[in-house]
Amino acid sequence: MARILVTGASGLLGLNLCLGNWDSHSILAVDRGKLHHTPFEVVRADLTRLEQARRLIETIRPDAVIHAAANANIDSCESDPEGARLLNGEIPGILAESAARAGVRFLHVSTDAVFDGTKEGFYVETDTPNPLSVYAQTKLLGEQNVLAANPQAIVARVNFFGWSLSGTRSLAEFFFNKLSAGQAANGFTDVYFCPLFVAHVSALLIQMLEAGLSGVYHVVGREALSKYEFGVRLARQFGFDERLVIPQSVEQSGLKARRSHNLRLSTHKLSTDLGTEIPALSTGIAQFYAQYQQGYPQKIRSYAQVGQA
Ligand SMILES: NC(=O)c1ccc[n+]([C@@H]2O[C@H](COP(=O)([O-])OP(=O)(O)OC[C@H]3O[C@@H](n4cnc5c(N)ncnc54)[C@H](OP(=O)(O)O)[C@@H]3O)[C@@H](O)[C@H]2O)c1
Repeated sequence: MARILVTGASGLLGLNLCLGNWDSHSILAVDRGKLHHTPFEVVRADLTRLEQARRLIETIRPDAVIHAAANANIDSCESDPEGARLLNGEIPGILAESAARAGVRFLHVSTDAVFDGTKEGFYVETDTPNPLSVYAQTKLLGEQNVLAANPQAIVARVNFFGWSLSGTRSLAEFFFNKLSAGQAANGFTDVYFCPLFVAHVSALLIQMLEAGLSGVYHVVGREALSKYEFGVRLARQFGFDERLVIPQSVEQSGLKARRSHNLRLSTHKLSTDLGTEIPALSTGIAQFYAQYQQGYPQKIRSYAQVGQA
């Protein structure tokens, strides 16, 4: 059984990845202290303490690393560009280098936000990035540092939705929280993206490592839609009043960081190289709903409660 070290294990991607795969893979989850009573093993580390970051892979010697830790809050990166540069830009390179030295496979999680959105249609991996925000600039720096230090590494540009530890981390949770309370939720009509259910992203990342891929890949959904339409699709799945999803322009949102209007990424390279089809958005939304019915949101949040067994 492959031993996979997962950073950002309390995050939306990391926690779902660990919970969905600990029984088929040996998962070692890197966490700063939030997780308790998980069914998988936890290693405590703060990656901004550079000595801990440098020693981590060498000490643990896993078979592979999935590096999902980041400052993924776009507006908080605008307020702390130096911190974002360290965590999103420099630390990925440090980890990728130590993985290369130790002969450990390395997958770096990046973002669909590295492009400026001016292209018509879907971006492919060979298109030139032009990030608009501090977050996207520092994530692109992370990609460059990873591939310079470790050309065999995988860089996976993702976009995903799912249930999180805080219950507020993903766009799907934003719509769920508002609509389930009978409140209106704004949905951008002028931002197009390709969301993929987080369990599908997690499975694909592991398959990519197992298939021995390297280089840049787009790991998103194969269907593009606006954030407004995504809200409407969720409302319909959960049986909420879809008129509560209010069409809005991102330009009128008052958000701090500049955002791309076009986050459509092509998954052609990924599905060809893996020889597999990317799961449909309708399947992902149905599974997101099924998890809700099964009490998964409560279960996931229980791992943040110190006293809970
Ligand atoms: N959400 C999306 O749709 C989306 C879209 C594009 C790209 N991405 C990328 O996907 C990856 C995962 O995103 P996410 O949404 O899962 O992020 P998230 O929920 O914000 O989680 C971030 C994770 O990084 C950890 N972390 C932060 N600082 C750390 C440090 N100094 N040392 C160790 N761990 C630290 C956090 O730990 P704490 O809980 O202790 O803070 C948390 O586990 C990121 O690389 C992000 O850029 C996400």
